[in-house]
Amino acid sequence: MRRPLIAGNWKLHKTLKESHDLAAGLAKELAEVSDIDIVVAPVYTSIATVATAVKGSTVSVAAQNCYPEETGAYTGEVSPLLLKDAGCEYIIIGHSERRQLIQESNQLINLKVKKVLDTNLLPILCIGETLEQRENGEMLEVLASQLKEGLADISNEQLGKVVVAYEPVWAIGTGVTASDEQAQEAHSFIRGVIQGLSTPEIAADCRILYGGSVKPDNVNGLLAQDDIDGALVGGASLKLDDFVRLVNFKR
Ligand code: PGA
Repeated sequence: MRRPLIAGNWKLHKTLKESHDLAAGLAKELAEVSDIDIVVAPVYTSIATVATAVKGSTVSVAAQNCYPEETGAYTGEVSPLLLKDAGCEYIIIGHSERRQLIQESNQLINLKVKKVLDTNLLPILCIGETLEQRENGEMLEVLASQLKEGLADISNEQLGKVVVAYEPVWAIGTGVTASDEQAQEAHSFIRGVIQGLSTPEIAADCRILYGGSVKPDNVNGLLAQDDIDGALVGGASLKLDDFVRLVNFKR
């Protein structure tokens, strides 16, 4: 059985105090939730504060990015090792905003995924096609290469720890969500690609999240799909009430 996961990606939002207050509020409101994993991803500067605020609660902490080295002469970068030290259990890798804004390649993403796994943290690998790629009929090819290149040279044992987030770029922050059927179709394809890279058991156990304008009023339909195991949520994770409603999706 795949344990559902709802993750909030706070992106470049919230001061230290705002992050602390939201995290503390979530820890309190979600204290009774025991059947799914709950994750929030604040900006780097708030990670330690948020980790302290949710310590011992049902909420875990993720980073939004990392650098694929432990320590060294890498000015401005932060490693999985230090993120773990600050209280992270997960790291989001390859978000489409990073792929687009700073041209992160599948090769760099692969190095990051490996470093996260070697540090005993769980990577949330984001993949997804642009509107242009979808309209050109390239969607499946794009998803397959993002997975094959992003997960290259990773042992089956480590592949079993990877969380994948399917986030169609045209649905992120736009208010346009993939329909339940469009999302299920992509997720089922993704599970098939993972099976090709590993084993049927690993593919069956792999958690594949959907992301892109997920809100309390569309989460139930999406998460009712066979291959959708959770959500990676941007905008709607910034408000306490909305995120609590998302975590309490119908099950
Ligand atoms: P959104 O963002 O929910 O605001 O569309 C999702 C994401 O980028 O992870």
